[in-house]
Amino acid sequence: MHFAIVEVLIDYVPELYMNIVLITGGSRGIGASTALECARRGQGVILTYHSQQAKAEEVVRQIVAGGGKAAALQLDVGDSRSFDSFRGAVELTLSRVWDTTQLAGLVNNAGYGLFNPIETVTEAQFDGLMNVHLKGPFFLTQALLPLMKQGASIVNLTSATSRVATAGVAPYAAFKGGLEILSKYMAKEFGERRIRVNAVAPGAIRTELGGGLNEEFEALLASQTALGRIGEPEDVARVIATLLTQDGGWINAQSIEVAGGYII
Ligand SMILES: NC(=O)c1ccc[n+]([C@@H]2O[C@H](COP(=O)([O-])OP(=O)(O)OC[C@H]3O[C@@H](n4cnc5c(N)ncnc54)[C@H](OP(=O)(O)O)[C@@H]3O)[C@@H](O)[C@H]2O)c1
Repeated sequence: MHFAIVEVLIDYVPELYMNIVLITGGSRGIGASTALECARRGQGVILTYHSQQAKAEEVVRQIVAGGGKAAALQLDVGDSRSFDSFRGAVELTLSRVWDTTQLAGLVNNAGYGLFNPIETVTEAQFDGLMNVHLKGPFFLTQALLPLMKQGASIVNLTSATSRVATAGVAPYAAFKGGLEILSKYMAKEFGERRIRVNAVAPGAIRTELGGGLNEEFEALLASQTALGRIGEPEDVARVIATLLTQDGGWINAQSIEVAGGYII
């Protein structure tokens, strides 16, 4: 009986402590909340930031204070030429901090919003959104694929604006729609390696995206939501974290809207 318990622990502990997930845009909002939730569930976290290093370091500090392990790396998801050297930085971090070579999860979360009607969108604005929301996740996933272990999980952050047309965010929503399709294709091609890929489509969430929401807009969105409020970052983080663990182990190639029943 005593030996049986020891055997179970030996199997369980490495599984729990050696799973490292990488979350882009983990310095704020949904990404930061996901980093904290994954750490609470026993995963190691590499989070990236674009410009807000101090906020990323604060998330790392909170994870460490809670008994977890985390590291923060700088990354511009809009600059695919940097991805090879970023992979090198990830490899170094994995070996130095966790003495491992592999990732168990990738969350393509980094992003920004832009409000501009189709009539006035510039080519530079269009390209900027495309680079961060579609090209970035495509080539970042490609660059990190050699580090993903068998049975890993990838989550791509899309948006309910791909289902419900919302005036002023056309290129953003179109690229999120593209990322949703890409998620299905990734699931198809990576299935051989038992890597799952899902899209998570938040509704309106209380973050700084696009400058945040004013009271009036928040009230409108809450009135259009069956559960009567807008979402909090934690509402989305719990779903992403579930998809990253074996609790979500049989969910694959799905797009999951996390929006409290927005315009149904
Ligand atoms: N909030 C919503 O209502 C909502 C709804 C649907 C979908 N989403 C999607 O959910 C994801 C997270 O959004 P959020 O609301 O949490 O946004 P947020 O609070 O504004 O945080 C954005 C994060 O992305 C990072 N980032 C921005 N541009 C980047 C770039 N070029 N390269 C690398 N990182 C970059 C930021 O880094 P720094 O802190 O260093 O700037 C930050 O960590 C996004 O993909 C967004 O489109 C959000």
